[in-house]
Amino acid sequence: MQEQSVTGHTLEQLASEAFSALEAAADSAALESWHSVYLGRKGHITLMTRRVGELPKAERPAFGQRANELKRELEAAYERQAQLLKAAEMEKALAEGAIDVTLPGRRVERGRLHPSTQILRRIYQIWADMGFQIYRSRDVETDEYNFQLLNFPRHHPARDMQDTFYTSGEDVLLRTHTSPGQIHAMREYYPQPIRVILPGMCYRHEQISARYEIQFHQVEGLAVGYNIRFTDLKGTLTDFAQRMFGAGRKTRFRASYFPFTEPSAEMDVECILCNGDGCRLCRFSGWLEILGCGMVHPIVLQNGGYDPSVYSGYAFGMGPERITMLRHGIEDIRYFWGNDLRFLEQF
Ligand code: DAH
Repeated sequence: MQEQSVTGHTLEQLASEAFSALEAAADSAALESWHSVYLGRKGHITLMTRRVGELPKAERPAFGQRANELKRELEAAYERQAQLLKAAEMEKALAEGAIDVTLPGRRVERGRLHPSTQILRRIYQIWADMGFQIYRSRDVETDEYNFQLLNFPRHHPARDMQDTFYTSGEDVLLRTHTSPGQIHAMREYYPQPIRVILPGMCYRHEQISARYEIQFHQVEGLAVGYNIRFTDLKGTLTDFAQRMFGAGRKTRFRASYFPFTEPSAEMDVECILCNGDGCRLCRFSGWLEILGCGMVHPIVLQNGGYDPSVYSGYAFGMGPERITMLRHGIEDIRYFWGNDLRFLEQF
């Protein structure tokens, strides 16, 4: 084959020079500089191919083809040489003991779900198994939904139980509980029967302490339909407690007061630490309070659009952080938003 020359230096000469220089490259620095001298953007091969225009027209295609071929061969040779050098360098490092293959590897830290998320998912699962759907409503509420429609008139003393963050004026606030979702759900579902849980974040203007946070979750529940009675409430919540805390766990209902339910109650479970004998966790009562509940007040049913002479319902509200605290004997609620890995990694 007749060799085309552009610079007086033929392609073939240049290639054989490149191959021998490659063999002489004894370490990765030499290899890299070889690559830029021959194959780099301003390398010999590249520059020579750019000058193809100086050749007679007829010779150009063959020249271009050969140049590309050589380029590929040189790239391949470069890769082989790089592998060889890498293996040799590894061998050398091993021989010198620079890599101790007996050292244990670095542990990969796996992320995990926040304990509040874990308990929420457990609660959703239990209620889903009992046919309750999730209904979400807003964190920012009006005074009307958060209080008035739930039968807390303005200036009613029951409002004292829930110190409120107002956003502007007296009417827009951060919900202090998930109960306003009851009204949203009823107004949306009417006239169908309802069976929902309403989870979400709640906010209260508390002095933060081991027992009170300004932000926490609640999971509300609401069932509305025909002939729903207190026994339905008791049976369903008892079943929930047994799924949550273990079969056979005793429960009891104590009379209580909430403006939006009548009658109202609180449910306790037998202390999960001492099984009812009395300990510090249950303050020696043998019982732990886990939720508030009751039959939906006729005024509240009406505010939701349901005629209380036709429909009845029950509602309940629980605090997932509180349940987690009870289950794990956590003594300070501030851990939940403290983002301390020593706490979070335990779940
Ligand atoms: N909203 C109440 C609170 O934040 C909890 C509650 C009690 C919700 C009784 C209910 C209920 O639905 O029936 O303290």
